[in-house]
Amino acid sequence: SVVLLLNGPNLGILGRREPEIYGTDTLADIEAAVAEEVSVRGWEVVSVQHDSEGELVSAVHRHSDTTVGAIVNPGALMIAGWSLRDALASYAPPWIEVHLSNVWAREQFRHESVIAPLASGVVVGLGSFGYRLAAQALMHLDGEAPR
Ligand code: DQA
Repeated sequence: SVVLLLNGPNLGILGRREPEIYGTDTLADIEAAVAEEVSVRGWEVVSVQHDSEGELVSAVHRHSDTTVGAIVNPGALMIAGWSLRDALASYAPPWIEVHLSNVWAREQFRHESVIAPLASGVVVGLGSFGYRLAAQALMHLDGEAPR
């Protein structure tokens, strides 16, 4: 089974992007952390990061039939990423939205996500550890179905 790790604009430069807000872990570190978490189930990770919304939409389409769940940090697309939202609306498996920073402790424009209402759950403000939690949540949700 494969989990889709989807990161939006400006998340490819994690590690050197405003480290006082987003921490010093790189996207490669996060990919390794998520891979480690899901390996206990024998699952694998496919990681996609794009700065443009259309590429993210295509990635959701491309991986929708081949993944058991997704971890999505939409970056600033949380604010008005309507096409990403619509792509995720037709993504059937469970998925978790992650934000490294506590968006509610920040500027007003970050307080509402157009993505979040569709997510199975949201992890906010726990830095890169939030991705590990999201991975665990996907395994938990998968475990809810008898197998
Ligand atoms: C973010 C929060 C967003 O508001 C911001 O635009 C980002 C990163 C986070 O992970 O904390 O790009 O998604």
